[in-house]
Amino acid sequence: MDKFIIQGGKPLHGSVMIGGSKNAALALMPATLLASGKYQFENMPDLRDISTMGKLLQMMGVDVVREGTSLHVNTFRVNKFEAPYEQVKKMRASIYVLGPLIARYGHAKVSLPGGCAWGPRPVNLHIEGVRKLGASIDIEKGYIIAKAKRLRAAKITFDVASVGATGNVMMAAVLAKGTTLIKNAAMEPEITALAQFLMKMGARIDGIGTHLLEIEGVDALTPVDDVMIPDRIEAGTFLAAAAITGGNVKIERCKPAHLTAEIAKFKKAGCVLEVGDNWIRLKAPRSLRPVDVTTAVYPGFPTDMQAQWITMMSVARGNSTVTDAIYFDRFKHVPELIRLGADITLEKNAAVIRGMRHLAGAKVMSTDLRASASLVLAGLVAQGKTEVLRVYHLDRGYDRLEKKLHALGASIRRVSSQEF
Ligand code: EPZ
Repeated sequence: MDKFIIQGGKPLHGSVMIGGSKNAALALMPATLLASGKYQFENMPDLRDISTMGKLLQMMGVDVVREGTSLHVNTFRVNKFEAPYEQVKKMRASIYVLGPLIARYGHAKVSLPGGCAWGPRPVNLHIEGVRKLGASIDIEKGYIIAKAKRLRAAKITFDVASVGATGNVMMAAVLAKGTTLIKNAAMEPEITALAQFLMKMGARIDGIGTHLLEIEGVDALTPVDDVMIPDRIEAGTFLAAAAITGGNVKIERCKPAHLTAEIAKFKKAGCVLEVGDNWIRLKAPRSLRPVDVTTAVYPGFPTDMQAQWITMMSVARGNSTVTDAIYFDRFKHVPELIRLGADITLEKNAAVIRGMRHLAGAKVMSTDLRASASLVLAGLVAQGKTEVLRVYHLDRGYDRLEKKLHALGASIRRVSSQEF
């Protein structure tokens, strides 16, 4: 298992290219099950989660071949309609195959995802949504068994604007008979990207980018190529790295319009930001001002930036509160940050932070993707050496993070480690 060794205290300078969006790719790849044929995706990030989704599709008979940042997908020979537990337990997004399989092939056997590092993440909205579209659903021995002759349109209202459930139900509804309404749909950029991809394939979707989607089912779709949108969470993470180290960094090939909530918060913290059409430059203040954050669905402040923000506020000059209104228990990084000297008290789904002048390097343990990123950020500013263990969590969602940070002036290197 690899670890990072970081010597803190180096302000970051220079520019960094942001890669393609992990969460857009994890939605578009299973969407290829909706029409047999060849697809070519560009700006496809080289991440562990993408490989995991690729392996799952290959188990169904899909050809998946990577060439650099291009991914070639061929769904001519889909012959298996199952997502086994061995695959699904590695990555919850595997459940995205449910909607396309039931819509295109009329049956699917998909393992329930089980828990994740920070607690239960139910899939009831996915199941209820596909059931409302006319599928018969049984839960047997930890699997969702879904069957349907032809799905038929329905009016569906999500009590939570779930990203995954919106994606799954939308992918099922595009081939259903009639016009489906999805109320309180997620409007994250990755869902907008999925909807636009489906439209290119011949789907008919109104209300893209809003909480109300109207999907007029069609009989068949056609394979098309697409380019991944930039990863807004990678972009936000690098802005946080510049901010926490007192640096001056330009992030390129990003989409600033996807980061409006974050940009506003960085400015309140005293950062100076210049925003171009596909770049952002952040100049950090000598010390950060404390800024409260409450996460929300898009376009609010994303839960996937919550951990990074807590790290930043740990060294701000004053007290702040970071509340996660999406996941009430996504705080596994807090005890590790406390080991680095942070002063944080958890009160239900809120972290109350007393900004410290310094953090001190130590060995810390990654527990999940964004928690790991927050520990790397802490190591960049902590005095002395920080070792971040189990960076395989990071590799799920960040492509060569240590190389990109090193190129910006960080003292960081990856070493293989026998420590668990
Ligand atoms: C997506 O997960 C992202 N993953 C997550 O990013 C992100 O944290 C999350 O959306 C929220 O923005 C991908 O896109 C692959 P949800 P998803 O369904 O779809 C509740 C990362 O770091 N809920 O929008 O699983 C759920 O418990 C990952 O890249 C139900 O109650 O998230 C949560 O409280 C981590 N029932 C809320 O909705 C359901 O059936 C939001 O979850 C589904 C969700």
